[in-house]
Amino acid sequence: MKNDEVESTAKLAIIILAAGKGTRLKSSRPKVLHEIGGKTLLAHVIASAAQVVAPADIYAVVGHQAEKVMAAVASSGIRFIEQTTQRGTGHAIQCAREAIAGYENILVLSGDAPLIQARTLSALWSFHQAQQAAMTLTSAEPADPTGYGRVIHPAGSVEVTAIVEQKMLSPGQLSLREVNMGLYAFKTAPLLSHLDKLTSNNPHAELYLTDMAQVLNESGERVVAFRAADADELLGANTIAEMMALDSSLRLATARRMMASGVTIFRPETCVIDAAVEVAPDTVIEPFVQLLGATRIGSDCRIRSYSVIENCTLGNDVLIRQSCVLSDSTVASGANIGPFAHLRPGCEIGEDVHIGNFVEAKKAKLRKGVKAGHLTYLGDAEVGDGTNIGAGVITCNYDGVNKHITRIGKDAFIGSDSTLVAPVSVGDGAYIGAGSCITKDVEAGSLAVARAHQIGKQGWASTRRARMNAKKDPPADRG
Ligand code: UD1
Ligand code: CA
Repeated sequence: MKNDEVESTAKLAIIILAAGKGTRLKSSRPKVLHEIGGKTLLAHVIASAAQVVAPADIYAVVGHQAEKVMAAVASSGIRFIEQTTQRGTGHAIQCAREAIAGYENILVLSGDAPLIQARTLSALWSFHQAQQAAMTLTSAEPADPTGYGRVIHPAGSVEVTAIVEQKMLSPGQLSLREVNMGLYAFKTAPLLSHLDKLTSNNPHAELYLTDMAQVLNESGERVVAFRAADADELLGANTIAEMMALDSSLRLATARRMMASGVTIFRPETCVIDAAVEVAPDTVIEPFVQLLGATRIGSDCRIRSYSVIENCTLGNDVLIRQSCVLSDSTVASGANIGPFAHLRPGCEIGEDVHIGNFVEAKKAKLRKGVKAGHLTYLGDAEVGDGTNIGAGVITCNYDGVNKHITRIGKDAFIGSDSTLVAPVSVGDGAYIGAGSCITKDVEAGSLAVARAHQIGKQGWASTRRARMNAKKDPPADRG
């Protein structure tokens, strides 16, 4: 946010309506805490508002599960107004009366319209000032106007005489296509002096903020409509299906932004990419990939299908093969992982490390060039440069009560199917014979073999087989 923008709008507050229950969602979670694009609806709206005014000039009206809603966005630094009973959008503004009295103008946003962009808020604000209006509502003609309030104009005029809610439309008004998108600018003085004229004379017995259009107009105040260029950006979500439609358009916008910056995304409509994810140019993302949370991916990487990467940082030139799950870990440049590998939180995967199929790691620090190609569990482990971990190796990190660390030096060789019972360490360059159960520290440069000795009995198997066959098939019965 530019500081000069904040100063020039110091007399402007932004009110976000977020007290409603969201009855149409049929969910016990408050509507504004549902998530799209990996973030709550309210967090999206706050992020855009905070690009226009300082957080201290943003007020969220909260009511339904107010504590939960406030806690969820507390870190944003915005302020809150309580609307203890939800008696409509007009009543929500009545509850904000004291807070807004100190501002010359306010913008009113809906907490359930999360795609709103800061540039649209700025455009509305400029239009409202230029029009010298008491109320400026934002209107658009979405593909389907059903459910929205309709805007009533004198023919050809920017001025508005009223907003009529869907349930109040007369048969003649049903064909009206210009709708109220629920985003407004108000001059505070006329709003406050006429706010008590709202009545609950409607099917929901609520106080509608939309009725302020007619109230102000009839009081001789100027009410105008600001035509939004892009109706999609202002769409609200009243049902889960509508929310998921917003989710996919938001994710598609994220994918488009990445593609415009040089990232290749095959079948972007199949990928789930959160808004905060960053990917550098020349990385290729295959279909059905999920990139979540604060994930950052370098350049020239390839993320193959069905991998889910959450809160991870990947360097350059990293290959993640199919169906890997990576969480809260870092992967340095040149590493290649998978298919079917699982990095649980706390892994630090070094440069050029190879992690193969069916390998699980948790809090594992694998230094440069480590190879763990197949069927391995590395938990609470540190492995030095260039060490080779054979197929089926397991670090036994848990004794039933506590977790312990396994330390393996550099250039060591851990034979297949060995178990390393932590706490235990293996020195640089040491060899562990395949199938060993290592319970004591292994010195650098040494060999440790911890398994039963093999015995050999010459001819034993052929003698036995001949005896068994003779019993099973006596010669007379043959044929
Ligand atoms: C509202 C408008 C409608 C417009 C549509 C755009 C009214 C009466 N109608 O309808 O003209 O076309 O938005 O999306 O305003 N809220 C409160 N306190 C309340 C009631 C609601 O804070 O007492 C909040 C809700 O949490 C929500 C917002 O206000 O974030 C809008 O309320 P909602 O019930 O979704 O209004 P719509 O029916 O969508
Ligand atoms: Ca709504």
